[in-house]
Amino acid sequence: MARILVIHGPNLNLLGTREPQVYGQTSLAEIDHELRQRALAAGHELETFQSNHEGALVDCIQQRGPQAALLIINPGAYTHTSIAIRDAILAVGLSVIEVHLSNIYRREPFRRQSYLADIALGQVAGFGSYSYIVALQAALHWLQQQESRASQST
Ligand code: DQA
Repeated sequence: MARILVIHGPNLNLLGTREPQVYGQTSLAEIDHELRQRALAAGHELETFQSNHEGALVDCIQQRGPQAALLIINPGAYTHTSIAIRDAILAVGLSVIEVHLSNIYRREPFRRQSYLADIALGQVAGFGSYSYIVALQAALHWLQQQESRASQST
């Protein structure tokens, strides 16, 4: 059993009511519940955290990151600005999957820059709340690969 950490950045607590034409109508609680159920069904534990504050996100990565096998993160607007979040992920050596509800490449030019893209295993963007499900599927696949690599080398 592995632990998967899911982190949501600023304004994602408003999902469901925030610009539903861009971000959809599913609430963050619904997304978290669905992810937890799916991880559990695959035999893993999934922990979620949301904050509107960059430092709190960095603290969470520092404190909970070392116990996690993998991080799924939607840093919200901090995607495009935060070297601190990037550095925290690198500092604890976490494998990371980057998620966005919207397709950040079809929007304003400033959203095309991501401080995580080049250190992530991969990025999922543009499928609304389903982006998180795709990211979780990728995470489960990655964990399986890690397990089979580990059992081959023993
Ligand atoms: C977002 C995209 C960001 O540009 C934006 O600031 C968000 C949400 C997304 O999930 O599509 O807050 O990360």
